Amino acid sequence: MDQASSLRKLIDQKNKAMMNNRMSSLQKSSMPQGPRVISVTSGKGGVGKTNIVANLAVSMAKQGKKVLIFDADLGLANIDIIFNMHPRFNIGHVIRGEKNLNEVIVHTSHGIGIVPAGSGFVNLTQLENSEKLHLLSEFDSLDQEIDVMLIDTGAGISNNVIYFNLAADECIVVATFEPTSITDAYAMIKVMSTEHNTKYFKLLVNMVSQPEEAKSVYGSISRAVDRFLNNVILEYVGFIPIDTMLPTSVIRRKPVVELFPNAVSSKTFMQLSASLLASPRRFESNGNIKFFLKKMMNFTKN
Ligand SMILES: Nc1ncnc2c1ncn2[C@@H]1O[C@H](COP(=O)(O)OP(=O)(O)O)[C@@H](O)[C@H]1O
Ligand SMILES: [Mg+2]
Repeated sequence: MDQASSLRKLIDQKNKAMMNNRMSSLQKSSMPQGPRVISVTSGKGGVGKTNIVANLAVSMAKQGKKVLIFDADLGLANIDIIFNMHPRFNIGHVIRGEKNLNEVIVHTSHGIGIVPAGSGFVNLTQLENSEKLHLLSEFDSLDQEIDVMLIDTGAGISNNVIYFNLAADECIVVATFEPTSITDAYAMIKVMSTEHNTKYFKLLVNMVSQPEEAKSVYGSISRAVDRFLNNVILEYVGFIPIDTMLPTSVIRRKPVVELFPNAVSSKTFMQLSASLLASPRRFESNGNIKFFLKKMMNFTKN
């Protein structure tokens, strides 16, 4: 064995040992009172995830919670648009060690922190152990200050979307009355339950004209779930009405809850965030950011 390769081997061993030590200390310190990690996801794009994340975040902040939004949508970083922010740095800079997490997080006037999505992030599944450790320690330092972390995932059943959902304590699946959105929501639940053993989901129906529509969407998905999937629980958490004030506020680059607090959608977001916060936490993942990252790492073993 030449000198370079034995050195590489030594570094690999060291990295592995560091990783194992870190993991076992995480396991020991895994108290479930860390931040609640909620992912908002969907099979189909354009169902309202980004607006839901932004408005739930503002609603929760109004209710006294410290909220961090993790923008995990690699396609379009449109959380920035809703909050009219122009982040200079993103999670890619943290992964590459160019910035620390505190330098990358942008803060809105509501006191919400946003971790912007970034190019380096596309390869999150392929991070080296040392990079994962680095990211983990960055999140570790934030752990005390956050009550809720909301993740805006991209649409569809890609690896990135799946593991963000897996890492969260709770996964809110968003669907609309459109048939393709219903079949795609079911497809997402099916893949996560059959391939990744996730058994608990929340369903939120968006852009509803009549309450019956929301019931019908829940009915269709839950019938398919009961018939074809084992032991999966799909909890209906409510619906958000279709509301022209919402796209109007997007054009004005503010969340509707802030710009039009009396709009029908704003009232719904306030109620929904209160009921989400009041609902019991699920500890499938032992729920906090450390576990969020740990699960991510387990899923993306290299
Ligand atoms: N409840 C609603 N009423 C009216 N328009 C909505 C509602 N929810 C979302 N929209 C609009 O739907 C479009 C897609 O929303 P967006 O949050 O970007 O979806 P996603 O993140 O799932 O792709 C946006 O133009 C948004 O303004
Ligand atoms: Mg989006």
